[in-house]
Amino acid sequence: MKKFTKAAVALVAAAALALSACGGREGSAQQSNSTSGFDKGSLIGVALPQKTSENWVLAENLFKDGLDKGGYKADVQFANGGVSEQQNQIQAMVTKGAKVIIVGAIDGSQLGTQLKAAKDAGVTVIAYDRLVKNTDAVDYYVAYDNFKVGQLQGQALLDGLKARKGSGPYTIELIAGSPDDANSQVFFDGAMSVLKPKIDDKTLTVGSGQTTFQQVATQGWKAENAQKRMDTIMSGTYAGSTKLDGILSPNDTLARAAMTSVKQAGKDVPVVTGQDSEVESVKSIMEGAQYSTIYKDTTALVQHSIVMVDDLQQGKKPEVNDEKSYDNGVKVVPAYLLEPKIVTKDNAAEVYKDDKTLAPLTKG
Ligand code: BGC
Repeated sequence: MKKFTKAAVALVAAAALALSACGGREGSAQQSNSTSGFDKGSLIGVALPQKTSENWVLAENLFKDGLDKGGYKADVQFANGGVSEQQNQIQAMVTKGAKVIIVGAIDGSQLGTQLKAAKDAGVTVIAYDRLVKNTDAVDYYVAYDNFKVGQLQGQALLDGLKARKGSGPYTIELIAGSPDDANSQVFFDGAMSVLKPKIDDKTLTVGSGQTTFQQVATQGWKAENAQKRMDTIMSGTYAGSTKLDGILSPNDTLARAAMTSVKQAGKDVPVVTGQDSEVESVKSIMEGAQYSTIYKDTTALVQHSIVMVDDLQQGKKPEVNDEKSYDNGVKVVPAYLLEPKIVTKDNAAEVYKDDKTLAPLTKG
């Protein structure tokens, strides 16, 4: 790794020398985006996916305000219409002359053409929260550690089962996120790294027998899709007196959908995990219904993205803290990962103490 870094530094230095030898600013478009800098007041594009969870909704204003305060022109777009809308938005950001484009991809594998256009125009591309796959036209990744999120969810499920359902064995079901979102498989792999040994040693049984990512994924992260699948499982596997003890859910929206399904089937609320610290789920946790969620403070993630933009603006290389985990199929994308936190009723007050929206929910 060190050798590589040195070689990279040498290459950049050689490129810089060659450029200065040409003596031309014309050459600068060819130069690495991260070293040339750009004017304050430049356009920064932020392409967000659909509003499939509260974190995306929060990100919109945080980006607008943060970029505004930083002196940039912000172009923040949602793509509620789907992949082609997001492709068009990114293309338009390139045409409008954005210097950096921050992308929360709907489908991480479908942006190759637009991001290549961005790269050709000298735009720096930062993948935000979700990795962009199968292209070398992505420069950085900023996100919470997705594998860790999954591990924390798996462990919370085990802890919750022990605390609420006594000693095992336990019957559970698994839910994963949308297959087009690169995060979904990583969350699932993280959780299964904890749960699989317990399935193998029969502490856990997956009642429906559905254990592969493909079987348990939820298209579009849509609550209705998770609920439909759970309804079918409830009326099949759990029609009689079979108890369902726990559900691995990858986020809060799907956790609430799964709980609705179980309730409608007339069964006791199982131990259900989540992610995102959505207001409704935090309330549910405090009432003793949903067992856990994950805190991934959106403010911190947006702030860090803007720190990266500031670095790029000044011609500095943004700081990264992971250069091995996120191989997008073409390159390992240098990443800055933040630490997710597990939240249950026991530690909610402590974890949310500085969060103006969530802290009040943990009192009284
Ligand atoms: C995010 C999660 C979110 C999900 C659905 C994922 O990519 O990391 O926080 O729950 O998308 O919006």
